[in-house]
Amino acid sequence: MAPLLDLAGLLVLLSFAHRQDADLVTAEADGSPVEDMELDPGRKTLTWKNQRNVTEQECKVDTPPSSSTRQHPRVKGDGTYVCRFPNAVLHRGATLTVNGMADGTPFQSVLEFRNPGLEGSGAVNLSCLIYNLRHMNCSWIPGPTAPADVQYHLYGWTSRHEDEVECPRYVPDSGTRVGCRFDELVGSQLTDTYFFLVNGTSKEAAIEFTDFAPFKGIMIEKVDPPANLTVGGNGSHHVIQWDNPRLRFEASSRIFVYELDVQREGSSSKQDSVFLRGSEENVYLVPSSSMRAGHTVRARVRFRHSELWSDWTPILRFGLPDQDVGGFPGALLGMVVGVATLVITVLMFLCTRFSLRRKLFPPVPQVKREVTGTGEAFPEVAWDRVSRRPSLQEAEEILSVEEVRPLESGQGDPVYPALPQHLSAEGIGPECHPLDV
Ligand SMILES: *[C@@H]1O[C@H](CO)[C@@H](O)[C@H](O)[C@H]1NC(C)=O
Ligand SMILES: *[C@@H]1O[C@H](CO)[C@@H](O)[C@H](O)[C@H]1NC(C)=O
Ligand SMILES: *[C@@H]1O[C@H](CO)[C@@H](O)[C@H](O)[C@H]1NC(C)=O
Ligand SMILES: *[C@@H]1O[C@H](CO)[C@@H](O)[C@H](O)[C@H]1NC(C)=O
Ligand SMILES: *[C@@H]1O[C@H](CO)[C@@H](O)[C@H](O)[C@H]1NC(C)=O
Ligand SMILES: *[C@@H]1O[C@H](CO)[C@@H](O)[C@H](O)[C@H]1NC(C)=O
Repeated sequence: MAPLLDLAGLLVLLSFAHRQDADLVTAEADGSPVEDMELDPGRKTLTWKNQRNVTEQECKVDTPPSSSTRQHPRVKGDGTYVCRFPNAVLHRGATLTVNGMADGTPFQSVLEFRNPGLEGSGAVNLSCLIYNLRHMNCSWIPGPTAPADVQYHLYGWTSRHEDEVECPRYVPDSGTRVGCRFDELVGSQLTDTYFFLVNGTSKEAAIEFTDFAPFKGIMIEKVDPPANLTVGGNGSHHVIQWDNPRLRFEASSRIFVYELDVQREGSSSKQDSVFLRGSEENVYLVPSSSMRAGHTVRARVRFRHSELWSDWTPILRFGLPDQDVGGFPGALLGMVVGVATLVITVLMFLCTRFSLRRKLFPPVPQVKREVTGTGEAFPEVAWDRVSRRPSLQEAEEILSVEEVRPLESGQGDPVYPALPQHLSAEGIGPECHPLDV
C-alpha cells in the first residue's frame, strides 16, 4: 500500500511542478516541452529535447505533394530525441511535427523546413545505373536557375553503410559536373538501398540541395547477359540452355526473368519472344520436327521486379540450315550428309533383315526391351552434355547413328550412353520407321 501512496503523491507533485513550468515558459505558444527542434536534411534526422517528462511521443514528417510518415522517437543517452526519415524527400520543403502528452495534456510542436538556396538552382532528374557487377553511373541536369559558375557535389550512402561518400569521379560537361562514376560500388546485398543527395556551390547565389527517393539496388541494376547460352540436341528436341548471369550477391534463380528471342532465318514474319522465370536448369526445348529451316536464338535477362533488361547475348544459329550451320564449314556438312545417307541406306537394309530374323528367331525379352524400349536405359543427361556445343548437334546425331551399328547383331549394348531415343524407338524398331534425320 505504501508504495502506491508514494506514487500518487509523486504524481501530484509532478503535475504541480509542470503547471509551474508551463507558467514559466509562456513564450512557447502552446506550452510544449519541446525545445531545440532541428532537422539535418542530409541525414534526414529530426532531433529535439524535452524540458519535462513526456509520454506517448510521436514525430511526423509531411512533404509535398502529399507524403506523410509517422514514427516513435528513439532517445539517446543525453536525453535527445531522434527520429530518422530515411525515405523522405525533403528538398521541396517539409513540415515536421512532434506530438505527445505532458502531465496528461497533449502538446504539439511544429518545424517548417525550407530548402535554403535560390529556388530552381538545385540539380534535377538524377538517375543512376549499376552495371558490370560493381560499377555505378549517375547523371543529373543542372537546375534551370543555376548560375553559370555552379558546381555540384554528389553524396551517396546505402541502407547498411550509413557513412556518406562523395562522388570519387565527376563527369563534367563544359565545366559543370553533370555525372559521376563509382568504380567500386558500396554495398553488395540484394536488399541494399541507395540514397543520394546533390548540393552545390556558386559565388553568385546559394544553391539548393536536392535529395531523391531512395533507389533499390536491384531496380537500378543492369545485369550481365545470360551466361553460356548453348543449343544442343537429344534427337527429338533442340535443347536451349544457359546459366544465370554473374551477380554481386547470393540470390535464388527465381529472381530472374529471361527473354528468349527465337527466329527463323530468312523469314520476314517475326516470332514472339518467350518469357521464362529463372530456374536451376534454365532450359527451353524446341521440338526438332517443328523446324524446317535454320533458326537463331539470343537471350537477355532482368530482375523480376525491374524494367531494366541486360544486353542481348550474341546470336546463336541452330536447326536445319539451308547452307551453313552457324559457321560449320559447308564442305564438311556435305560430307556428313553423304555419310548419313549411306548409313540410312545400310540401316534400312538391316531393318528389313532384322524383321525377317525376328520372325524366325523371336528376340529374348531383355533384348526386345532394349531395342523397342522407351529409352529409359539411356541416360539423357549424358547426351545433353555431349551435345551442348552449338550448331554441331546435327553432326553428332549422325555420328551416333554410326555408333549404333553394333545393334545389327541383335544384342545391342544395354548401357550405351549416348543412343538418341528416336533411333531406338523409331529407326531400328520392328516397324522400321524412316529415320528422322
Ligand atoms: C553538401 O552536403 C554534404 C553532405 O551532407 C555536406 O557535408 C556539405 O557541407 C554540403 N555542402 C554544401 C555547400 O551545402
Ligand atoms: C523525469 O522523471 C524522472 C523520474 O521518473 C526524473 O528522475 C527526471 O528528472 C524527470 N525528468 C525531467 C526532465 O523532469
Ligand atoms: C526531368 O524528368 C521529368 C519527368 O521524369 C521530365 O518530364 C523532364 O522533362 C525532365 N527534365 C529534363 C530537363 O530532362
Ligand atoms: C558510365 O559513364 C561513362 C562515362 O560517362 C560512360 O563512358 C559509360 O558508357 C557509362 N556506362 C553506362 C552503363 O551508362
Ligand atoms: C560458364 O561455363 C563455364 C564452363 O562450364 C563455367 O566455368 C562458368 O562458371 C559458367 N559461367 C557462369 C556465369 O555460370
Ligand atoms: C529430349 O529431352 C526432352 C526433355 O528432357 C524430352 O521430353 C524428350 O523426350 C527427349 N527426346 C529424346 C529423343 O530423348
